[in-house]
Formats: sequence, C-alpha cells, structure tokens
Amino acid sequence: MKFNAIMAVAQNGVIGNQGKLPWPRIDADMKKFRDLTMGHPVIMGSSTLFGMGRELPGRPNIVMTRNPEKLENYVQEKGFRNTFVVSSIDQLKHLLEEMKHKWGEESWFIGGAEIYNLALRHNLIDQFYVTRIYQDFEGDVSFDIVDMKDSDGEQIWELVTSENLPENVPPLSFEIYNKLK
Ligand SMILES: NC(=O)c1ccc[n+]([C@@H]2O[C@H](COP(=O)([O-])OP(=O)(O)OC[C@H]3O[C@@H](n4cnc5c(N)ncnc54)[C@H](OP(=O)(O)O)[C@@H]3O)[C@@H](O)[C@H]2O)c1
Repeated sequence: MKFNAIMAVAQNGVIGNQGKLPWPRIDADMKKFRDLTMGHPVIMGSSTLFGMGRELPGRPNIVMTRNPEKLENYVQEKGFRNTFVVSSIDQLKHLLEEMKHKWGEESWFIGGAEIYNLALRHNLIDQFYVTRIYQDFEGDVSFDIVDMKDSDGEQIWELVTSENLPENVPPLSFEIYNKLK
C-alpha cells in the first residue's frame, strides 16, 4: 500500500477557513488535485467532507470520524454512493485492502489538518504534494510540513521538485516532498 498526501497552503500558512478552503476557486490547483487523485481512494476527515458537502466523483471517498453513526446518517441523507466511513487507521487499512483489486495500491490523504497529523503520527505518508499559493488569506486551520523536524532536530521532509506558475493569479508553485526517514 502506498499513501501520498496532497494539500494547498497559503503564504500565511492557512489551509482552511470556516470549514471551507480559504481562497476562491483556483482552477490550476483543482486540476492538479483532480489529475493526481482521480481513480484512487481519497481519505479525509469528517470536517472536510462536511465543508465540501458533496463526494468527489471517480474515487472512493473514505471519511474518518470518531462518530460513525452520525456520519453514516449524513452520507445516507445526502445520497452519497461512493463514500465509506471509518473510525480508525486499522479500519482504514482493512477497507483499502478490500478495495485494492478495483482501485489499486495507491491512496491519498486529502486533509484537513487533523487527518494529515493522524497519518503522520502513524508514519503512513511517503510523499507530500503541496501547492503553495503566494498570497495571504484569512483562515482558522493552518498546516505545513516544510519545517517539520524529528526529535533529534533533523529535517523530516525533502523538497524534490518544484514547478512554478508565476503567471497564475494568485501565483503558485507545485511542490513534491519525499519523506527522509
Ligand atoms: N487546503 C487544503 O489542501 C485542504 C485540504 C483539506 C481540507 N482543508 C480545510 O481544512 C479544514 C478542515 O480541517 P480540520 O483539521 O479542521 O478537520 P479534518 O481533518 O477535515 O476533520 C477532522 C475530523 O476528523 C475526525 N478525526 C480526527 N482524528 C480522528 C481519529 N484519530 N480517528 C477517527 N476520526 C478522526 C474527527 O471527526 P468527528 O468529529 O466526526 O469525530 C474530526 O473532527 C476545512 O476548512 C477544509 O476546507 C483544506
């Protein structure tokens, strides 16, 4: 099983605002997200699903919660047909194992901050795809990996590629980080 993660972060470090993305739609980032995750299971926290209010098409949507009953009811009310509810990493791995004949071995943690942190604590993520947005936005959830250090003060993530889109409004760069250890 291979786990990647993907996120977009503003210059001031925010990734979320009042349950939604802090910025108005950024087509280049949406396309990148879609191209990378399409056809693979995506794993998110319940706040991210509630904020989207819809399921992402063409991919199994796996949603993490400590209150599966509430989320199952929401999924049923909304008529989501490709959304799966799990409440632990063990359940997540079990579900992905069952899905792999159809959806393959690669899956994506798509946020938010609580779910990235949970995946990092379990040492699951090999590669992190980060869209940097060179503008500040108002937000109430912040997250980044760029300066993360281990208990010995060593850098955890290495930037391996960076593609700049200076002409985009707002300017962006698409970065890929590999886990160093
Ligand atoms: N910029 C980006 O790339 C990006 C990506 C994704 C999301 N976002 C934004 O980030 C914000 C949401 O982030 P967030 O950190 O507040 O929430 P989140 O990670 O989306 O979801 C948090 C929820 O996940 C569940 N959860 C957390 N730890 C768990 C565990 N150990 N076991 C089982 N379930 C667990 C809990 O659900 P229950 O409360 O149901 O128990 C918790 O309330 C939104 O504004 C969203 O739009 C941004």
